[in-house]
Amino acid sequence: MSSAHSAVATAGSVSPPPSPVSSAASSASPVSAASSTSASGASPTSGELLEFVRRTARDEALIASLPLDPEGRTWIRLDGPGGSESWLIGWPPGTGTGWHDHADSIGAFTTAAGALREHSLVVRLPTDGWKTLELTDGVDRSRELATGQGRAFGRNHVHEVLNESEDAHAISVHAYYPPLPRIRRFSRTGAVLRLEQTESPEDWQ
Ligand SMILES: [Fe+2]
Repeated sequence: MSSAHSAVATAGSVSPPPSPVSSAASSASPVSAASSTSASGASPTSGELLEFVRRTARDEALIASLPLDPEGRTWIRLDGPGGSESWLIGWPPGTGTGWHDHADSIGAFTTAAGALREHSLVVRLPTDGWKTLELTDGVDRSRELATGQGRAFGRNHVHEVLNESEDAHAISVHAYYPPLPRIRRFSRTGAVLRLEQTESPEDWQ
C-alpha cells in the first residue's frame, strides 16, 4: 500500500490546502455551522473536533451550498468550535492534497459525500534541519473514509488525502486547533520524503 500514493494526481495547477489555500470558492467571512464554541469553553479536544465535523457533515443544506468545480477543489471557511479553523472542501475525482503536516495543530475530518482515501505516516518528523528523509518500513498507513466516516488526529500528523474515484465528487469537513500556523509540504519518491515548502496562513487566506 505504500506505493499507492503515487497513483492519483494531485490537483492541477492550484495547490489548495490540506486545508484550503487562496482562490476558488472561499467565502469572505466564515460561515456559522452548528455550534461554534467548545462545550467546556476550553481548547477543543480532537474528539470534540471530530464531533463537530460529523455534526456539520450531516447539515445537508450546508453541504449542498458548496460550489463544485470539476477542474479543482473548492472550499468554504467555517467557524469551528472553540476558535478552531474549519473548512468544507469539495474534491473532484482524482484530486488530492499531496503530503503535508499540520505543525502542532490537532484536527479531525470526515467525509460528507463520496469517499476519500487517507495515506498517513506513523512517524514523528524532525522539526528542522532536514531536506530529505528515508522512511523506514512499516510506517505507512492507508484508510478509506466512506461517506459518514471520519477520523481525528494528534499533533504532527503527516498525511495526504485523495479522492480516488474516477467519476464522483467527494465532500469533506475539516477542523484544526489551534488554527494552522503553518503547514509543510512534501514530495515522496518511494521511501524518500522531501521537504518542498512551508506555507503560512497568508498563503491560504
Ligand atoms: Fe491535512
